[in-house]
Amino acid sequence: MTDSAASQHRQSQPFLSLHKPTPIDGSFAGKHIVTVDQFSKADLRALFDVVFRFREGVRAGDRSLIELCATHVMASLFYEASTRTDMSFQAAMRRLGGRVIAASNGVQFSSVYKGEDLADSIRAAACYADVIVLRHPEVGSSYQAAWYLDQLGEQLGHRTLVISGGDGVGEHPTQALLDMFTIVDLKGGTSGKMITMVGDLKHGRTVHSLAKLIGRLEPKDCTLALVSPDMLQMPDYIVEYLRQRNIALVQTDTLADVLPDSDVVYWTRVQEERFDNRADYEAIRDAFVMTPDVLASAKPDMILMHPLPRKNEMGDAAQRDALDRDPRAAYFKQMENGMFVRMAILAAVLGTVKP
Ligand code: NCD
Repeated sequence: MTDSAASQHRQSQPFLSLHKPTPIDGSFAGKHIVTVDQFSKADLRALFDVVFRFREGVRAGDRSLIELCATHVMASLFYEASTRTDMSFQAAMRRLGGRVIAASNGVQFSSVYKGEDLADSIRAAACYADVIVLRHPEVGSSYQAAWYLDQLGEQLGHRTLVISGGDGVGEHPTQALLDMFTIVDLKGGTSGKMITMVGDLKHGRTVHSLAKLIGRLEPKDCTLALVSPDMLQMPDYIVEYLRQRNIALVQTDTLADVLPDSDVVYWTRVQEERFDNRADYEAIRDAFVMTPDVLASAKPDMILMHPLPRKNEMGDAAQRDALDRDPRAAYFKQMENGMFVRMAILAAVLGTVKP
């Protein structure tokens, strides 16, 4: 399958061909962030050095951090629900001394309510901010934004950047960066490891980006296990991407096949809002539920990750409580790392720190 799932995917998503993402290639300043495809292993290493530094700095109350983006403004433009991505970007910008703007009553009561299209809302944010964080239900919306921002930049004489905060069932690149940072932080990286992704691999943009990012790093002796019901399998274009990069893949609908050998287990929510048919969702929503009993067969030194939010896929309140107290639960650390990673991304693309 070389003419290929990936190009079919691009053709079926018109926005993806609008903007050609720029590889970071050692230089973050002035780059839109729309996909993990922009990052090399060296870029990641350099970025993570900054993340470690910022994390220490925040914890030590280092006041010099608030100089870094003191003259910058970030616009937060969220067309889909968000808690962590939105708040961690806002907190990140503020911890760097920057300001944050957003439509006062949420994007649904901005001119979007009057029927304004994405391009014009993006242009408006671009007139007031240096960087826009965009979450939108359409795949490739951040590519579209980047394209419009580049056009507008020529007219205005300054270019505003976009960072994707998740585009529909497409990608969530900064989530993958924080997920990978957490894996490096807690497990020393992906080489020699079995990473297991479980749940809604079809609609989950976090697993799309993380799987691709693992592929890009071409880790040695890494196995990626993809566990899902048949209906919710990882899209072909990503499976192909991984095959081309020689990642050992296991695809199964039986968690017990891989759980005892897994070093990282990445649990996900069934993405209820992406189903056309409610009955399909109901049929599948309890396919994989993580509970203390399930975790009992995992390695003692593995980590359990989850991008959150979580619902029934982590059991009832008592089961969650027990999971949260298990030392292998890494999802709260992962959530906290999100802010430090986003601080590093913001400062890097705004050019106030050089990874
Ligand atoms: C995820 C998302 O929005 O894709 N959440 C997040 O950004 N941390 C995962 C999800 O909604 O299930």
